[in-house]
Amino acid sequence: MSVEARPLPGPPGLPLVGSMLTFAQRGVFDTFGQLHAEHGDLARLRLPGGKVAVAVAHPDGVERILRERRQNYIKGSSYDPIRLITGTNLVTAEGAAWAWRRRLAQPAFTREGVTKLLAAMGDSIDAMVERWARLYADGRPFDLQRELVALTMRIVGRTLFGVELAGEGAESSGRAFDAALSIVHARGAASVALPLAIPTPGNLRLRRALATLHREVDGIIARARAGEGEETLLSALLHASDPETGAALDAVQLRDEVIMLYLAGHETTATLLTWTFWALARAPAAVDELLAEADQGGEPGPVTPALFESLPWTRQVLQEVLRLHPPAPLVPRTVVEDDVIGGYRIPAGAHAVILIHLLHRHPEFWEAPAEFRPERFADAAIAGQHRYAYLPFSAGPRTCIGNTFALWESQLALARILRRFVVELDPKAPLRLAASTVHRPAGGVIARLRAR
Ligand code: HEM
Repeated sequence: MSVEARPLPGPPGLPLVGSMLTFAQRGVFDTFGQLHAEHGDLARLRLPGGKVAVAVAHPDGVERILRERRQNYIKGSSYDPIRLITGTNLVTAEGAAWAWRRRLAQPAFTREGVTKLLAAMGDSIDAMVERWARLYADGRPFDLQRELVALTMRIVGRTLFGVELAGEGAESSGRAFDAALSIVHARGAASVALPLAIPTPGNLRLRRALATLHREVDGIIARARAGEGEETLLSALLHASDPETGAALDAVQLRDEVIMLYLAGHETTATLLTWTFWALARAPAAVDELLAEADQGGEPGPVTPALFESLPWTRQVLQEVLRLHPPAPLVPRTVVEDDVIGGYRIPAGAHAVILIHLLHRHPEFWEAPAEFRPERFADAAIAGQHRYAYLPFSAGPRTCIGNTFALWESQLALARILRRFVVELDPKAPLRLAASTVHRPAGGVIARLRAR
């Protein structure tokens, strides 16, 4: 490490609790937003127990973490809160334990793999569109976000697990996951966290939330086992063995894998679609071209990947929504050895947190960053952009495995919905963000439909 490296700027924080009080009062997004506004693209927060969070919002720093020195920035203890809820799985594992899981899951998520899932995606979308036509075409208000969560969950159920999942299961497990996460974060902020077995009120609530999640996921696995042997990612997991032990995955390993795929695979995409309708209500100029593409490509029936090439504006709209409202805005890593980024000392043991939402609005890299301009994602326009200035799915080996899945699913859903309906949202309706790792509206988004 260079001896000239400077210490990172940041607020003093209180002894023992660091800046955790600010986190508790203002929420994680506002805390990092304020830190960035006051101290710039690389800054540090003090955490309890002498730990430090390093917030990174410059593409060069992000490239260092995700590419150049990626072995030095592991998921490590930064992922402990998620691990406490979901155990060891494709998202949380590291090293060899991660690599075999990625190899096993990868075929389902390549272009060829997702192509095989398009028929089921299309069927689920068409069924929703028909239901909307029956229930909401008269213009009565409904909770669009809730509908989109149910849709993406049904798609994950059909495509990855080969089972039909109903909306109530998603809602109660979504709530259980959020509850578990907030308790786990509170444990992280406490100076002493008692083991789960000790029945403190927080531990009891956590155990109840985990029981709800486990019930839902155990039900999925039982139904998949009893199914007709359809080849899905879950059936591959049912037949997989752990390369270290050679044994089939036990019940807990299976559950940990399914729980994570279930959560990672639906809420993020539902959030992207929700923000898309929210953004379109404020950008009517972007809608005409979308409707033209939907009329061409949004009819029900078989889908091939060629369809997605014929919906370029739809893709650009989604990319712009992912820029302004990235569903996964914080990518955390643990620093293994001291490093230097941009002349600043990055201490071993720190949590390096990539602030995707601020990176995406960095004024050096984006013209008029707060404006909704899908034209910036036209192939020619985006060609000169810094590779690490736009990372809704992260980058490097731990990049989102589901990115093609999510984009195709969203393009298809948008085209088929817009072919049938004008979706109206009140552009003045206030919006509150949920306290979740997914950057999404809290308490639903109300919409009305008009048949086209
Ligand atoms: C718009 C939708 C989505 C967004 C914005 C998104 C975002 C992300 C991001 C940022 C990461 C990296 C996290 C990190 O490195 O700390 C990630 C990883 C992951 N995502 Fe997604 N995701 C989306 C959809 C999906 C879908 C549909 C699936 C599965 C069906 C999925 C499964 C995963 C998995 C398994 C990982 C971990 C990959 C690994 O570490 O090897 N995601 N996602």
